[in-house]
Amino acid sequence: MSNFKRYLVTAALPYANGPVHIGHLAGCYLPADIYVRYQRAQKRDIKFIGGSDEHGVPITIRAMKEGVSPQQIVDKYHAQIKESFDQMGISFDIYSRTSNQVHHETAAAFFKKLYDDGLFEEKETEQYYDEKTNTFLADRYITGTCPVCANPNAYGDQCEKCGSSLSPEQLINPRSTLSDAVPVKRKTKHWYFPLQNYEDWLKGWILEGHTEWKNNVYGQCKSWLDSGLQSRAMTRDSSWGVKVPLPDTEGKVLYVWFDAPIGYISATKELTEKWDDYWCKDDTKLVHFIGKDNIVFHCIIFPAMLKAHGGFVLPDNVPANEFLNIEGEKVSTSRNWAVWVHEYIKDFPGCEDMLRYVLCSNAPETKDNDFTWKDFQTRVKGELVDIFGNFVNRAFVLMHKLCGGKVPALHADVLDDAGKNLLAEFEVTKTKVEEHLENFKFRDALFEVIDLSRKGNKYMQEKEPWMVARTLAENPDNQKLIDNCLHICLQLTANLAILINPFLPGTAQKMLHMMKVVDKMLEWENAGKTKLLSVGYSLRAPELLFRKIEDAEIEAQIAKLKAGLVKPETGAQQPEAGSQQPENTAAPKAVKEQIQYDDFAKLDLRVGTIVAAEKVPKADKLLKLQVDLGFETRTIVSGIAEHFKPEEITGKQVVVVANLAPRKMRGIESNGMILMAEDKTGKLHFINPVDAIDNGSSVS
Ligand code: MF3
Ligand code: ZN
Repeated sequence: MSNFKRYLVTAALPYANGPVHIGHLAGCYLPADIYVRYQRAQKRDIKFIGGSDEHGVPITIRAMKEGVSPQQIVDKYHAQIKESFDQMGISFDIYSRTSNQVHHETAAAFFKKLYDDGLFEEKETEQYYDEKTNTFLADRYITGTCPVCANPNAYGDQCEKCGSSLSPEQLINPRSTLSDAVPVKRKTKHWYFPLQNYEDWLKGWILEGHTEWKNNVYGQCKSWLDSGLQSRAMTRDSSWGVKVPLPDTEGKVLYVWFDAPIGYISATKELTEKWDDYWCKDDTKLVHFIGKDNIVFHCIIFPAMLKAHGGFVLPDNVPANEFLNIEGEKVSTSRNWAVWVHEYIKDFPGCEDMLRYVLCSNAPETKDNDFTWKDFQTRVKGELVDIFGNFVNRAFVLMHKLCGGKVPALHADVLDDAGKNLLAEFEVTKTKVEEHLENFKFRDALFEVIDLSRKGNKYMQEKEPWMVARTLAENPDNQKLIDNCLHICLQLTANLAILINPFLPGTAQKMLHMMKVVDKMLEWENAGKTKLLSVGYSLRAPELLFRKIEDAEIEAQIAKLKAGLVKPETGAQQPEAGSQQPENTAAPKAVKEQIQYDDFAKLDLRVGTIVAAEKVPKADKLLKLQVDLGFETRTIVSGIAEHFKPEEITGKQVVVVANLAPRKMRGIESNGMILMAEDKTGKLHFINPVDAIDNGSSVS
């Protein structure tokens, strides 16, 4: 299918300034691992490269705040992240780190080559400097009052309150978030990489040469390229990072996004002496797995660097995923709105494959998706326990009961169409799974595997070998029917083990153990075969492959999420760890025209309780509410039906505009309005008193 001789697969190097969460897994590490495991089963020459990204401002800030050295920070998180990946079965060939000596040498040499070739522009600019801590300040580390909305805690790049994008110069009373000092301007020299010089080449290479890239990736590249590229500084003033390999550059390091992707090369060097086969030969297929916030770096900047340097292969594909939200809200590591991998492993020991399953079947491949604990429970039960697990378990139990614990024969004389068709499905499924995986369609691939087990279940249900067994006394020949059914189901089980292996490796291992076969059976070329288990071979008793998730476990997780939620600090916020960086991409909402106190005083706001709610027939958006205001109960029609179900809002307290003129909607008179807050994602939230208070209380 391709003329590539070897594969080099990378997964974004997570920042070692915090643990990894399930959004990281779903976005990049799990698809990369599935792809690699599949290619290994195809016996392809492949290396899977990972490691920690240990440089950059967030790490130094974190260290400063915790009063430890940056090295201590990265040591701690590198170890923790590595362990989480191990436990989740992310099978890197190497998991390295960018604070390694090899990496410092490799990155410095890369920079030096571009410098010697005259490819950088040297520029002196003025930047904000904190004289107390002796550091140049990245825009994010300057706060001050927003010139637009007067929020006193706006950042040098953006006001989170009104959404305006700012530059540090615009802030009123700017302060350093590190020391509270008033920042001063200082001259500093840096080396810029003129990306615009590579624009035409990039346009040809991506926009014409890689039309097969995923829409989300191609689209982002196109919009970057269409809006024109500019020079980017590839050095920074900092003491933490790869030192600039030029004379008189004390206190200057390589920009983290310059050094980090070179980390893929350094890690490959550490892994194998033949690293240059993988990096320098045209018949290598290089694939970068990343999250969507890394697209520009992996599709534009790093390739331009590789091109400028010369002698390296370029990525053949960059299958970036979108983001995975949690319970309807964007992941935020600073607010602790995340499901941490190490905590999942602790709370659900032995359930790693179940998480892999849900994250793959619900992966944000083409758009942002939502992870909810309820959906997790439903998928585990409905697909793993009731379909896949149930099928394998029944095949084994019945084989022990009705066929003496051995693989029964297949009797050609009584083989019917149903059996033949199912056997033919093995190969069909193999081909489909293969095609999907080669094209990075992991959800579709996984669906096919589950679907094959669904067909097995259906077949067994139709054949009912347990019923046939009751007729054996009168009709001993019927044993052949039982044999055929279980023979086919067991061969199907062997196929399922091979097909599920890239996705759920632990499950495949359990199945091998039950079938008493060795790892070699999992080689991909065995998929589709109908005689994997020999007739007469005795098999072990079934093991439990999956378990049901109890309601109480789900409730505990949701409670934990809510309880762990922290309000963002007012000082500098850490940019989010890892590839799932919540950037405020919502268009800024301008503040409405000014009003006088008298305008405000005209509003009569009251607390009320929703005592009844029902859908308004033929109106998708409307709910008809009865709101108890203490002195009376009112009918209010509210446009929230797409956000809330009637049963989830009855009993809630709300704030009501009590003196709004009545209005008819769908023939119902509405007497007032309830207040709701809308977040960046367009989701509505109730505004209600923190503790329940009397209905009718006024709000002002
Ligand atoms: N640390 C970056 C992030 O988490 C990813 C770096 S990927 C690399 O967003 F290519 F630069 F290594
Ligand atoms: Zn503002």
